[in-house]
Amino acid sequence: MPKHTVVTMPGDGIGNQVLPESLRVLNAVGFDAEYVHADIGWDCWCNQGNALPDRTIELLTKHKLGLFGAITSKPNKEAQNELKPELRGKGYVYYSPIVTMRQKFNLDICQRPCIGFLGNPLNFIRKRPDGGFDEPKLDTTVFRQGTEGMYAGIEWTNPPEIVRNALNSHPKFKNFAQVPGPDLAVSVRVITRPAARRIITAAFEYAKKRKFRAVTICEKPNVVRETSGLMEETAKEIQKNYPDIQLWSTNIDAQLMWLSKNPEDYNVIVASNLFGDILSDAFAGLVGGLGFAASGNIGDEVAVFEPTHGSAPKYAELNPPIVNPIAMILSAAMMVEHVGEIEKADRIRIAVAKVVQEGKVRTYDMMRIPGGAKSISQGAASTMQMTDAILTKV
Ligand code: NAI
Ligand code: MG
Repeated sequence: MPKHTVVTMPGDGIGNQVLPESLRVLNAVGFDAEYVHADIGWDCWCNQGNALPDRTIELLTKHKLGLFGAITSKPNKEAQNELKPELRGKGYVYYSPIVTMRQKFNLDICQRPCIGFLGNPLNFIRKRPDGGFDEPKLDTTVFRQGTEGMYAGIEWTNPPEIVRNALNSHPKFKNFAQVPGPDLAVSVRVITRPAARRIITAAFEYAKKRKFRAVTICEKPNVVRETSGLMEETAKEIQKNYPDIQLWSTNIDAQLMWLSKNPEDYNVIVASNLFGDILSDAFAGLVGGLGFAASGNIGDEVAVFEPTHGSAPKYAELNPPIVNPIAMILSAAMMVEHVGEIEKADRIRIAVAKVVQEGKVRTYDMMRIPGGAKSISQGAASTMQMTDAILTKV
């Protein structure tokens, strides 16, 4: 019997190209697992009216460990038009399966490391007053709350009367009271104390493990007083359990400005769902972009690991594939670490680091050339060639 069973969900587009590459690396480090395929994504929506089929939910419930590629999401109107004819007009509503998965399994700890590799030509550099350049060593991990906040999905255009009445009871709503229903859209930002405690505790635990001096809570409590206020208040409460770790507090807007000034000062940042999503993309941009951005969605029971990038449809049909598999491979390494096989996870990361530092094998994104059928003839490695290079180092 293999030690682990992993539910693999390649999904759409380049998810199908990068996920198999991560399995080659997992096998190479001797990760003892069997893999069970599960469907997710656009085809499921078009054919079943459900982008996250019941069988996939059952498999995740049973095996508790998932590796996910990427899915394609489209706005509601397009989603309705692509539904197979016999399902149209039957009340099916498209929901992003990854958001649904996070909510269904309470995958509330979204961990997104943005850790620079030496020699990556995409690393952030900063001009010095003397005209030279610094390349700060970035080691930031964003802890993004994964189930609530602006992505809770509680929203309306033309809110029902009962909601409208509730809004009218708030003094600040009087500025909007005359807006006709169809012209009014409302999204509710929900933050609960238990979930805030969990994500902030996860951030402090990580800082403790890595011996970092501070955790930064990044919100906007001076303006969004209730929800960001609750996040900040909770961070202060949790910090008391970690006397050796400081709590820094930044506003989301200022934090993004500091990104280009002193990003190396931030090792652990914790934020609510939308702000964490923004922060993790922004930090990922400093260490190589989407081709390097890994993530884990971790609940009490189930955990699903995925690259941050999407299905990149414009590259999905290219043969050979050209996209960078590193984000997916690093996500697989996070999964391996999550189940306690730290030595194997480190072997994967060290192998990636060696390939990046050597600089001989680079996908198109690492060469800063346009992606497309011509990338390979311009010297870019294919997706498989990048994995091959990593395999020679494990
Ligand atoms: P995307 O992440 O798919 O691609 C944006 C661009 O980033 C690509 O065109 C490509 O230039 C680059 N890129 C992405 N992954 C790369 C890789 N591994 N190597 C090299 N370059 C890479 O985002 P986009 O274009 O905004 O969305 C495409 C589809 O993906 C949409 O349907 C969107 O809803 C969905 N999406 C899904 C996500 C998920 O599954 N978690 C996350 C983000 C978007
Ligand atoms: Mg994102």
